[in-house]
Amino acid sequence: MIHSIYRNEIQKTGRQIEYSRVSLEEVMSIRQRVLRPNGSISDTIVPADRSEYAAHFAAHLDAEVIGAVSIAPDPCPGKKDDNAYRLRGIAVLPQFQGQGIASALITQALAHVKPSRVQTVWAYARPQCATLLDKFGFVRCGNFFEMEETGPHILVVASLSG
Ligand SMILES: CC(C)(COP(=O)(O)OP(=O)(O)OC[C@H]1O[C@@H](n2cnc3c(N)ncnc32)[C@H](O)[C@@H]1OP(=O)(O)O)[C@@H](O)C(=O)NCCC(=O)NCCS
Repeated sequence: MIHSIYRNEIQKTGRQIEYSRVSLEEVMSIRQRVLRPNGSISDTIVPADRSEYAAHFAAHLDAEVIGAVSIAPDPCPGKKDDNAYRLRGIAVLPQFQGQGIASALITQALAHVKPSRVQTVWAYARPQCATLLDKFGFVRCGNFFEMEETGPHILVVASLSG
């Protein structure tokens, strides 16, 4: 089931990007291609992805998924909040990067949890994603650390206001 939320135009092509909430299955392939090019799809899936409260969002161009973001309940390291959510699987195909697609998807994911009075949203962000999440008010906690196979990440945490 796809709920079309809003549309955006790619000026270069004149075609439209459609942003939608989708199933986990629809974001698996882009996660693997962009985030784990040397890994398998199962490397990109965690149990929280299948939570009834998980939500997955995709940007489509025609029938192709060109960007994705997921958000799901997950305890935030170092923070006592039983209702914390984690952003994961933030990925945009290289040829479509730099056009605001990840920003649009993150905006949707944060808007999705807001009615549930979620106060803490966090992520382990790669360097370019940390810069992106800075713009959403995420605060960097500690230093970058090395994740096996996927390189440097940093914990970033946002406190959503009521
Ligand atoms: C990180 C990523 C998701 C950003 O997607 P995107 O659609 O290009 O992002 P946006 O166009 O919405 O960028 C918004 C802001 O993020 C920051 N940003 C995005 N890509 C960046 C990069 N490569 N280097 C530094 N900052 C970057 C910029 O501040 C940018 O704002 P600006 O355009 O005003 O400069 C995308 O580059 C990607 O998929 N990268 C490979 C996978 C990855 O690292 N995912 C994150 C895992 S934590």
